[in-house]
Amino acid sequence: MQRLYKNHKRLPFPSSLFLSSRVITDLTRNPNPMSKNKLKRFAENETFENLFQHNDFNARTEPFPLKGNWHATYFNNTNPIVLELGCGRGEYTIGMAQRFPEKNFIGVDRKGARLWRGCKDGIEKNLKNVAFLRIKIEDIEYYFDQNEVHEIWVTFPDPQLRKERRRLISPNFISKYQKIIDPTGIIHLKTDCTELYEYVIETALIENWNIIENIPDVYKSGENSVLTEIQTFYEKKWLLEGKPISYVAFKKNHIIAPHL
Ligand SMILES: C[S@@+](CC[C@H](N)C(=O)[O-])C[C@H]1O[C@@H](n2cnc3c(N)ncnc32)[C@H](O)[C@@H]1O
Repeated sequence: MQRLYKNHKRLPFPSSLFLSSRVITDLTRNPNPMSKNKLKRFAENETFENLFQHNDFNARTEPFPLKGNWHATYFNNTNPIVLELGCGRGEYTIGMAQRFPEKNFIGVDRKGARLWRGCKDGIEKNLKNVAFLRIKIEDIEYYFDQNEVHEIWVTFPDPQLRKERRRLISPNFISKYQKIIDPTGIIHLKTDCTELYEYVIETALIENWNIIENIPDVYKSGENSVLTEIQTFYEKKWLLEGKPISYVAFKKNHIIAPHL
């Protein structure tokens, strides 16, 4: 069993253990070379103290040391943990960590070159309440214990309109999130995709999820909050195309009446 260190700087498992083989393969054989910039970012990712990555995604075969230990071992506090799933460059993770120092934020994505941006921002802004996790979200329950997470944001997920099971907001994924989120925990979706937004509203009815907030177009609603103040990379693109940005927040089996 790997030993956990109080000081997360000395954790034995992160970046170097999991990413180096890929980088070495690319640098030596180079059959289908990644851009130099990507390789540079991957190499730099290995040095980041706020990034944990399981490059071969074999979470099922070995226990992840921070599972059940994020508070005690990484954050050194008992503050609520908020996840941003499919975080890309981590704009919500960073933006909310700055606004809410009394919470901890973890950005999750499978793309290392995008996560690099968030990690770098977290380090440059000296944010101690931030971490990033490079994994497949399908495997999320191998990285967090039951009730270890208090809130989940899903920001501009790929709509996956043809394959429901792959939607990060489908019952398939929500049932995984239910294994790690506090029973009162809220799941937030921000999207440019009207079909996905409507899908969540319809699915909520079928699955008995309780919608606690539902805003079809946050920029027309007069909202002045993290919903409009923080914009992600993809959001900026969709805004330039004139798309409405929708928001919906829900809990499972919660009895508060929705204000629609
Ligand atoms: C459209 S991008 C949005 C990124 C960011 N939230 C934004 O708004 O700019 C979707 C992100 O989800 C990530 N993603 C999609 N499916 C995933 C999965 N199953 N596991 C991990 N990451 C995933 C992709 O790598 C990508 O960065």
